Amino acid sequence: MSIDHRIPTTRLGGPTGPEVGVQGLGCMGMSFAYGPTDAAEARATLERALELGVTMYDTADAYGAGENEKFLAPFVAAHRDEITIATKFGLAIDPEDTTKRIINNDPAYIRRCVDDSLRRLGVDVIDLYYMHRRALHVPVEETVGVMAELVAAGKVKQLGLSEVTGGELRAAQAVHPIAAVQSEWSLFSRDIEAGVVPAVAETGATLVAYSPLGRGFLTGAFASAEKDLDATDFRRHQPRFNGANAEANGALLEPVREVARTRGVTLGQVALAWVQQQAQVHGVGVVPIPGTRRRTRVEENAAATQLVLSAGELALLEPIAERVAGPRYADMTFTSAARE
Ligand SMILES: NC(=O)c1ccc[n+]([C@@H]2O[C@H](COP(=O)([O-])OP(=O)(O)OC[C@H]3O[C@@H](n4cnc5c(N)ncnc54)[C@H](OP(=O)(O)O)[C@@H]3O)[C@@H](O)[C@H]2O)c1
Repeated sequence: MSIDHRIPTTRLGGPTGPEVGVQGLGCMGMSFAYGPTDAAEARATLERALELGVTMYDTADAYGAGENEKFLAPFVAAHRDEITIATKFGLAIDPEDTTKRIINNDPAYIRRCVDDSLRRLGVDVIDLYYMHRRALHVPVEETVGVMAELVAAGKVKQLGLSEVTGGELRAAQAVHPIAAVQSEWSLFSRDIEAGVVPAVAETGATLVAYSPLGRGFLTGAFASAEKDLDATDFRRHQPRFNGANAEANGALLEPVREVARTRGVTLGQVALAWVQQQAQVHGVGVVPIPGTRRRTRVEENAAATQLVLSAGELALLEPIAERVAGPRYADMTFTSAARE
């Protein structure tokens, strides 16, 4: 399935929110986590995405310790009024051990982070600013209180939270409107459906679905992280993509292949259409943000917004997630699933 027109739009955080394409672009891999990148092709991918109506671009200060924000700056400057730029604070990579994460929600740290992100992105306001991870000793109300000050100061337009529980979202919403909740959601990762998704539906936030392609595994692009991916690739540290788990999980792609075969589409398009269709299933606004650094793939992914799966196809895909071997992170401590 290919695409020659702009994708449909939706509103971020409810009917009065800004208009964005129903699919965004994850930019993390352009600087971080998924092995060596071709900067020129990544830049061309940003431009192609925008031509197709993909208007929300997702980054974080953690992606390459600021490098990803700096990489995006020229693109943001060239298209400031056409795009929604989303970035995050609260998570840093431990320089001593790059598999370790440092979570920080201290008010002074947040105030420093926002100024650093503004400078690196080269903007005077961030369209959507997320808490990337919650530091468990800091009440979410306190963090959102600091984030609300950033809105009042004109540094940030809308607020988002990543990997929060339903309860944390409700508590946050009582302090300041939350436009977006960013959580992992895919055919392989459905833990948020129990508590997070109902709270998102209740508050009217948009569910921004990260890793909707199961970090690429759902496309069939790799079968085993340790065998197929670069030595520096983060997926080598994710239990479900390695060893016996990866082998068992590869077999779970059969129904995805079957739907792809009968519809004449790719596995990735089936995976993305499934996430997009959860909007109707759960009564929430959903914007998946597949990550790619290649023009051909951004075209393929955008085209998935035209694919509507039948009830029979959805039923065929339904049992996959509960059979996945291995958690989505080696350390699940800072995920919403660990606290729900
Ligand atoms: N909030 C959080 O904690 C969090 C965590 C993880 C990610 N994120 C955000 O979510 C975005 C997306 O998640 P993700 O990048 O982890 O996972 P993803 O979107 O599920 O998958 C990305 C991987 O799939 C490959 N890919 C993309 N389109 C493809 C296609 N059509 N066919 C075959 N392979 C394809 C990409 O490779 P190429 O780049 O080489 O095409 C990349 O390796 C990230 O960029 C980041 O902005 C947020």
